[in-house]
Amino acid sequence: MRILRDTTFNDTVLDELRALAERAEATDGHAPFSDDLWQHALAGRIDVALVAGPDSGGAAPKGVAFAGSQGTRRAAELLVDPEARGQGYGAALLTELLSSVDDELWIWSHGDHPAARALAARHDLVRARELLQLRRPASAPVPETIAPEGITVRTFVPGQDEAAWVSANAAAFSWHPEQGSRTLADIRAAEAEPWFDPEGFFIAVDPAGDVAGFHWTKCHPPAPDLPEARPVGEVYVLGVIPRAQGSGLGAHLTALGLAHLASVPGVDEIMLYVEGDNAPALKVYERLGFRRHSVDVAYRRRA
Ligand SMILES: CC(C)(COP(=O)(O)OP(=O)(O)OC[C@H]1O[C@@H](n2cnc3c(N)ncnc32)[C@H](O)[C@@H]1OP(=O)(O)O)[C@@H](O)C(=O)NCCC(=O)NCCS
Repeated sequence: MRILRDTTFNDTVLDELRALAERAEATDGHAPFSDDLWQHALAGRIDVALVAGPDSGGAAPKGVAFAGSQGTRRAAELLVDPEARGQGYGAALLTELLSSVDDELWIWSHGDHPAARALAARHDLVRARELLQLRRPASAPVPETIAPEGITVRTFVPGQDEAAWVSANAAAFSWHPEQGSRTLADIRAAEAEPWFDPEGFFIAVDPAGDVAGFHWTKCHPPAPDLPEARPVGEVYVLGVIPRAQGSGLGAHLTALGLAHLASVPGVDEIMLYVEGDNAPALKVYERLGFRRHSVDVAYRRRA
């Protein structure tokens, strides 16, 4: 086997990697890469790009690894073609990845694959972050909740609420490696996406008119050839500014978003991502009927 190392993937390789990612998603039942890192790879904004293939060369890649920025951290993805697993490609790619990056590196294992666990143990990597995906049926009843005193909830107004959302989001997620650094450009780019729907984006305002919290929902279109053949609703971003936390606003905003998602034609499941150690959020979500669906693990070198 041989591993080619570069700082980006060329267009031919990217086409092969798109096909590889689709095959992996069909086999494994979930997308193989974090959205943001994969977008960076497609746009050439990575700095380590490894492609593994047979010695003879010429064949489509059997495995791939890449590293780049993910929010405030340096992170990496590694994927072996389902048909080439068990032949040492993963081990070779991980060895090369670790020798290419000396400093901090968060290496994702989407779906907590047992082979990734074995490889991590062999390289003395530790489970440093767990990102849970929770799901609930859209038809499960949504309990009646009320807004805390003085708080009113309305939907997002494009052209008016962007800057206030950026600061409320930064306050709620100041501790989060990716979400806390969302910018005006990020929200404007999201508003241009076909899935963006202000009617599914709830804004809680306090008596002074300031944003106290928000629940941005999202509907993923169906992917007929992939495991998600039906549209899936998502609790995309939920945040309450620190001084308003613990007053029931998070639960109220979540419930409003769930009722909205359940009314979207074709949506019969609702998903969300939450950090495994985010106790307040887990409490809100579990009380509203969400249960664990899958887990993505980020490994790091032992300190
Ligand atoms: C998660 C979040 C949206 C919840 O909003 P909230 O308004 O604080 O939530 P609620 O008041 O409705 O409920 C929070 C519950 O968690 C509990 N809680 C708070 N801190 C806790 C902790 N450390 N451990 C366990 N439970 C905790 C509260 O006591 C409350 O439960 P209760 O109703 O039984 O008293 C809010 O804390 C937040 O914005 N956090 C930062 C951003 C974030 O994590 N968003 C979710 C990302 S998936």
